[in-house]
Amino acid sequence: MSLKILGTGSALPKKVVTNDDLAAFLDTNDEWISTRTGIRERRVLSDETLQSLAEQAGKNALECAGVAPEEIDFVLVSTVQAETLSPALACDIQPALGLKCMGMDINGGCTGFIAALSVAEGLIASGRAKKLLVISAEALSRFADWTDRSTCVLFGDAAGAAVVGEGEGLRDIRFASEPRREVLCASTPPGNSPFAVDPKPAQYLKMQGQEVYKFAVSHSFKDIRDMLSAHELQPEDVDFYVLHQANMRILEGVRTRLKVDAERFPHNIERTGNTSSATVPVLLDELNRAGKLKPGCRVILNAFGAGLCTGTALIEF
Ligand code: ACO
Repeated sequence: MSLKILGTGSALPKKVVTNDDLAAFLDTNDEWISTRTGIRERRVLSDETLQSLAEQAGKNALECAGVAPEEIDFVLVSTVQAETLSPALACDIQPALGLKCMGMDINGGCTGFIAALSVAEGLIASGRAKKLLVISAEALSRFADWTDRSTCVLFGDAAGAAVVGEGEGLRDIRFASEPRREVLCASTPPGNSPFAVDPKPAQYLKMQGQEVYKFAVSHSFKDIRDMLSAHELQPEDVDFYVLHQANMRILEGVRTRLKVDAERFPHNIERTGNTSSATVPVLLDELNRAGKLKPGCRVILNAFGAGLCTGTALIEF
C-alpha cells in the first residue's frame, strides 16, 4: 500500500524582508544576493510563532483535502528546530486543529518533508494509520547568524503541509547520504551541566556554501536521473520537478543538465528564500492552488541538505 496526497496547505510569516532591508545592516546589496541566489525577498517570523505557522498550514491542508480532524490518525512534523525540544511540535499543534492522535517530529534537514512522506507511507502500509497530516515547519531566522552575510541572506521561515491517505500516488521514494557535518551545521543550546568536561558553545548555522552547491547540483541531477531511468521515464514525461528551493543557480544547473524546459521547474525562491524542509510542500501547495496538479499529473520531489542527505520521490496525482 502506497499513499496519495489528498490536500495541501502552507503559511508564510507576514513580515517581508527585502534584500535592501538586509543591506541596511549588512555589507551586502540586492545585486549580489539576487544574481548569486535568485532571492529578492524572504518572509521572517516577527510577532508570530513557528507553531502558529504550522497550525495554519495544517488547517489549510485539512480544508483542501476535505478531511475532518477526527479522521487523522497520526501527525508528522518535519523541522530542524521546533518551539521546544519537548513536547514535539506535532503534539503542540493538535488542540488548535481539533486533532487527538499520536504526533512526532522528524529532523531530516531540508530533506525532511520527503523523509516524513516515507514514514507516512510505512505507517499506512503497516495498517497503523489511514490518514495522516504531514507538516514541514521551519524557522531558520532563529538560528541563522544575522551578522554573517554569507549565510543569513539565504534563509526564510515558512510552513507547508499535506494530508495523505491510502492510495497509489507515491510511486517511489529514495534517499542517499554522504555524512559531512562540517559542510552544514548548527548546534543546540549548550546547557549548563556542571559535569560536562568540554561544554560546547552555542553555534549559529555555519555553511561551506560552495561545497553545498557542488553536492546539490551533482546529487540532485543523479538522483532524478536514476529515478527516471528506474521507471523508464524521459525527463519530459514529468510535469513538474519540485526541488528544494536553496539557490536559483542550483535549480538552473539541475534543469539544464536534465534538458527540460523552465515551465517544468517551478520556483518561488525569489519570494521565500530557503525555508529548509518547508520549501517543497510550500511550492507543492502553490502549484495545487493554481490548479496545476491535475489527476494523472506526474511530479518529482527532490531535496538536499544537512547530513548531507538527499531525498527523491516520484508522485502521481
Ligand atoms: N553580499 C556580498 N558579498 C558577499 C555575500 C553577500 N551576502 N556573501 C559572501 N560575499 C562575498 C564573499 O565574502 C566573497 O568575497 P571575497 O571574494 O572578497 O572573499 C565573495 O562574495 C564570494 O563568496 P563565495 O562564498 O565564493 O560566493 P559563491 O559564489 O560561492 O556564492 C552562495 C555563495 C550563494 C552561498 C553559494 O555558494 C550557494 O548558494 N551555495 C549553496 C548554499 C545552499 O544551498 N545552502 C543551503 C542548503 S542547506 C539548507 O537548505 C539549510
